[in-house]
Amino acid sequence: MLRRTDNYDLTGRNTFGMKVRCSRFIEYDSAQDLMDLCSDGIPAPVLHMGGGSNLLFKGDYPGTILHSNIRYCRTAASNGDNVLVEVGGGVIFDDFCAWAADKGIWGIENLSGIPGEVGASAVQNIGAYGVEVADVISQVMCFDLVKQDKVIFSCAECRYGYRDSMFKDPQVKGRYAVLSVLFHLTREYSPKLSYGGIMAALPQKESYTPGDVRATVLKIRAAKLPDPSVTGSAGSFFKNPIVSMDEYSRIEMAAQGEPVPHFSAPGGMVKVPAAWMIEKCGFKGLVAGNAAVYDKQPLVIVNHTGNASPEEIIALEERIIAGVEERFGITLHPEVEHIESK
Ligand code: EPU
Repeated sequence: MLRRTDNYDLTGRNTFGMKVRCSRFIEYDSAQDLMDLCSDGIPAPVLHMGGGSNLLFKGDYPGTILHSNIRYCRTAASNGDNVLVEVGGGVIFDDFCAWAADKGIWGIENLSGIPGEVGASAVQNIGAYGVEVADVISQVMCFDLVKQDKVIFSCAECRYGYRDSMFKDPQVKGRYAVLSVLFHLTREYSPKLSYGGIMAALPQKESYTPGDVRATVLKIRAAKLPDPSVTGSAGSFFKNPIVSMDEYSRIEMAAQGEPVPHFSAPGGMVKVPAAWMIEKCGFKGLVAGNAAVYDKQPLVIVNHTGNASPEEIIALEERIIAGVEERFGITLHPEVEHIESK
């Protein structure tokens, strides 16, 4: 069934807590709903949104926002330890993580606690603690709003990269609504514990369950990241820059002998934590009006008082970009998608 509300208040629908509205908010339950919607014509511009946890609305959205209410989680096939699970695009990603952990199924426990929904996870290629959702995606089932038909993309066709996929290409952006995602998970013991202090935070035991890893990840996240139900934010505001060896040498020079944290990336490139550069520029914990740089993780910009305007968030973003550019010669790029109001 389609549910349509005009002049819809988005305040509770974006984790930044921006007080904005959209002209039309339409929720759908099925591909048939989208078919019906297309034959009636959807007033442009059109934006799909999931949990609103990676968006910064720059003002009221003068168009139609589509949101999936397709919510199911079912084992599609099982062969030995391998389990294929199909999950509706409107399922809260962390509910899926809890479901898998509860059943003793491995693959997404490191992604526990990431806000947002399953459809958006497949567009954004969410990642944390050494795992990206692309590692466990088998297929993405979509509705093509141009051809008005269902289409299935293999993981390879989605062309996943760091927080990136073909769904974000400007030519196709907004064309596909994710109906469901097929994940390949496993019952075989396969914890991934090498990243981000997981090993140190786990209780000492012979072996672990997906539930143990999930509980540990939730604990680490709670200590570092703001709880969106308390403090508005969109998680990491910036992507970690992936730089050439030459650029990396420049960062080392600017660090004046202090060791620069870094991780090797494909193609001889180097990933340098944006959080480190932002901290070195002195922005950690900086309060600017109603916005602030989170004091426990400077990659996160927060709606400090709950009353920050998009302009205040953007002013702080620009200040950080300029500061990091001046000190390290590196341009940070936002991970958070900015939604235009015109
Ligand atoms: N660091 C600092 N100061 C700080 C915090 C971190 O210098 O106050 C440096 C440290 O060198 C640390 C490094 O930053 O080793 C990495 O920090 P962390 O492991 O917290 O991860 P991150 O790079 O800041 C990324 C993701 C997060 C994800 C974590 C954990 C991006 C843009 N962000 O952050 O994802 O939870 O790794 O895997 O890749 C999100 O996308 O919204 C998000 C929260």
